[in-house]
Amino acid sequence: IDHFGFAEDSTFKQRFLVADQHWRQDDGTILFYTGNEGDIAWFANNTGLMWNIAEELGAILIFAEHRYYGESLPFGNKSFDDARYLNYLTSEQALADFAVLVQHLKKTIPGSQETPVIAIGGSYGGMLAAWFRMKYPHVVAG
Ligand SMILES: *[C@@H]1O[C@H](CO)[C@@H](O)[C@H](O)[C@H]1NC(C)=O
Ligand SMILES: *[C@@H]1O[C@H](CO)[C@@H](O)[C@H](O)[C@H]1NC(C)=O
Repeated sequence: IDHFGFAEDSTFKQRFLVADQHWRQDDGTILFYTGNEGDIAWFANNTGLMWNIAEELGAILIFAEHRYYGESLPFGNKSFDDARYLNYLTSEQALADFAVLVQHLKKTIPGSQETPVIAIGGSYGGMLAAWFRMKYPHVVAG
């Protein structure tokens, strides 16, 4: 329990979208969109590059929503009521969420354990993609 009374192991539901129609287990790729400040469905609809290269790369597309945006609200509707609820809105926390999500995906998508993960994003999400590779090189290949 921290000094605000939040349990350190508290959890929240994080939304992510999956498109697997071009996924090839044997030689494919995981293209992982590091969600930025908005509804993840909007980014999925507006990141044509990932859809355009999915077939060639045999890629499964993952679009991960950034905490505190869209439906991924750590404290539900209270998330923005009080500054103390916003203490967990940082890029470091968002990257940690993404690392946990990649590990979860590799456990639950059959055949993906050895598949390289390539992070992709735009604007702040592009910074997140680069930082993701720098801070979690054992999770992200590029
Ligand atoms: C994304 O595209 C789908 C299909 O066209 C549409 O139903 C949905 O409303 C769009 N969502 C956003 C947030 O743009
Ligand atoms: C948040 O508020 C909206 C609209 O007031 C409501 O539909 C939704 O169920 C609430 N969500 C939670 C998690 O309480």
